[in-house]
Amino acid sequence: MTKRTVVVFGGGGYVGAVLTPMLLAEGYTVRVFDTFWYGKAVFTGEALNPNLELIAGDIRDLEAVTSALKGATDVIHLACISNDPSFDLDPALGKSINLDSFAPLVKIAKQSGVHRFIYASSSSVYGVKVEEKVTEELSLEPLTDYSRFKANCEEIILAAHTSDFRCTVLRPATVCGVSSRQRFDLSVNILTNHAVNLKKITVFGGSQFRPNLHIQDMARAYLHVLAQDKKIDGAIFNVGGENLSLDQIALKVQKQIDLNLEIHHSDTDDLRSYRVDSSKILDELGFKPIYSVDQAIADLQKAFVKDNYNNSLENSMYFNIKRMKELSLA
Ligand SMILES: NC(=O)c1ccc[n+]([C@@H]2O[C@H](COP(=O)([O-])OP(=O)(O)OC[C@H]3O[C@@H](n4cnc5c(N)ncnc54)[C@H](O)[C@@H]3O)[C@@H](O)[C@H]2O)c1
Repeated sequence: MTKRTVVVFGGGGYVGAVLTPMLLAEGYTVRVFDTFWYGKAVFTGEALNPNLELIAGDIRDLEAVTSALKGATDVIHLACISNDPSFDLDPALGKSINLDSFAPLVKIAKQSGVHRFIYASSSSVYGVKVEEKVTEELSLEPLTDYSRFKANCEEIILAAHTSDFRCTVLRPATVCGVSSRQRFDLSVNILTNHAVNLKKITVFGGSQFRPNLHIQDMARAYLHVLAQDKKIDGAIFNVGGENLSLDQIALKVQKQIDLNLEIHHSDTDDLRSYRVDSSKILDELGFKPIYSVDQAIADLQKAFVKDNYNNSLENSMYFNIKRMKELSLA
């Protein structure tokens, strides 16, 4: 196999920090292109790997993007203002990063001779669905600009697909578990952090179903798709593990952390409830998650016991919205 060079835009984030060492271990040369809002320290051992290059840059800077893509064979695009609240801090900034920068970046990737482009969309593009099985066939009803722009970018990348520039969209569930760029603003991680450090679990709503995916499985999915041939051409795949209600997640956290913890309920306006069906990626590509939400909670618990986090309830490095405010990005 010819040596492949993967540019991971946004590779310094929660998912990228787990994915990058796995790409290196598989023999890929990796260029992580990121603004590094969460620092470069997320890569410690890997930073010494001669096959890893860390490029500090902004995806809106087309010269920097052009230079990063020279000689690259593959792109994984993760760079994003990556949740609704941080997007809403400054919608103009969010749009410039999450949508406006995308078509020019895709054009440069194509001109640079990249063969394969994987775009990180989100299962939130479906909005609220009554169907038991939310498959890739269903219409998109994004409820927020964050999700709407994900859907717009899907259209842009799929329109650019050719047999020389193979494009694939993944729609991941909400990710959970440990990363060297930890996020504590995602449902399983929030509840586990609160259970360990506040000794209580507060659930907003409770009956709403959400799809979840262990972070190791998220990274495995990118590797799996990267290793495929024609089957991924111009295709969209949901990637989810367990669909669980927030109450079910709370019970899992209670069981793992401490059965004596009380579960409190609070009202919420966010009654989005949906279950994502991931049988297409299994049937067509043979990809199956092998980790569980229980495992993610156990991994987080171990990391807390090892004292891996510094003030996990407050530290802005773990909360996208806080970090953006701190950097005066919005
Ligand atoms: N984490 C999840 O639960 C989840 C679920 C579905 C989809 N996704 C998608 O997966 C991708 C990765 O998510 P994550 O959890 O790792 O997010 P993250 O916020 O931890 O990482 C995003 C990275 O992008 C970088 N970035 C932001 N703007 C940039 C810019 N203008 N130029 C260069 N780099 C920039 C940030 O510094 C950060 O390192 C995102 O696109 C997200 O929308 C994530």
